[in-house]
Amino acid sequence: MIIRSHAAQPASAPVVDNWLDAGWADRELRADVSVGLSSRPKELPPKWFYDDHGSDLFEQITRLDEYYPTRREREILEREAGSIVAASGADSLAELGSGTSTKTRILLDAFAAAGQLRRYVPFDNSEATLRAAADELAAGYAGLRVHGVVGDFEHHLGRLPLDEPADSGAVQPRPPFMVMLLGGTIGNFAPAKRPAFLDVVAAAMRPGDTFLLGTDLAKDLGRVEAAYNDAAGVTAEFNLNVLSVLNRRLGADFDLDAFEHEASFDVDNEWIEMRLRPTRAQTVHIPALEMTVDFAAGEHMRTEISAKFRPERVRAELGAAGLVVQQMWTDAQSDYALTLARRIRRP
Ligand code: SAH
Ligand code: AVI
Repeated sequence: MIIRSHAAQPASAPVVDNWLDAGWADRELRADVSVGLSSRPKELPPKWFYDDHGSDLFEQITRLDEYYPTRREREILEREAGSIVAASGADSLAELGSGTSTKTRILLDAFAAAGQLRRYVPFDNSEATLRAAADELAAGYAGLRVHGVVGDFEHHLGRLPLDEPADSGAVQPRPPFMVMLLGGTIGNFAPAKRPAFLDVVAAAMRPGDTFLLGTDLAKDLGRVEAAYNDAAGVTAEFNLNVLSVLNRRLGADFDLDAFEHEASFDVDNEWIEMRLRPTRAQTVHIPALEMTVDFAAGEHMRTEISAKFRPERVRAELGAAGLVVQQMWTDAQSDYALTLARRIRRP
């Protein structure tokens, strides 16, 4: 079911399509929890972090001293936004996992300065956050048409509304779109799922469109571990918040004080792994799933991986999806990369 809301008055009011109706999201959550908590080791997918409180906690993380990725990405955007806009040749932007769209403003300003700002399509599974961002951006950029989509990366990207059908229903020629995935979010996908994700993104684009990808780069593991173990405990609260989501939505009885946040670097896989560790043996009830889950003391439950990339891997994975790297920019310390790749026509 598609729930579309289109505020009546000003011409610049955003359109927001919600492709995650309550029934769908509940079924998805139930399936993820039932499979994840029956697996050995137990696992919960990171997408359930982002209820309203989780989205707010992530925003706090981006401002922590230890959490360098957001600052590094902003540094590159502030330095290179004009070059990125020029290289893309685009007049419209779609953003996957857009969140609060805070850094997006740097690019929107550069598009506007170049006189080529037409549409912005934010896509996220966190509805309240997306709606707030869509409202602010539509109000803040004259003439910008904002068309937000509340959807899930794994199910809804194939329908990304980059093309606007004419009255006749025919798809019109259009200037290139730039699709982007910032923040290092690609690193939260299991490596085995990245090719299919990039294939779907590429398939939603037309030849000539570009993809701007933010990736955290491989570096000294001490700095990476510090970024996910901040002294103020915000990342711990973000991690534990997933248990609150299960308590609220599934009636589960997780005791948040009986679990500890853990984040350590896996050298072989080049990713940081976040886990929740029970501090004592316990049994958790999940009435909505008629499920009882035993936790042994010291057992690990994985809640997120965040892969750190080498440039050659970024090129190879994009290339395999028919996205040919045009340019790569890094910050002054080479901590983080933004890569612009063009969609080519595949044989
Ligand atoms: N791009 C922003 C936010 C990154 S946080 C930045 O760079 O700061 C990751 C974002 O992806 C969150 O806003 C979260 O709600 C969204 N997200 C996570 N999993 C998702 C999924 N499966 N489908 C759609 N959005 C998802
Ligand atoms: C959204 N994503 C790229 C963040 C990351 O760094 O992997 C999520 C996060 N997890 C803990 N801190 C931030």
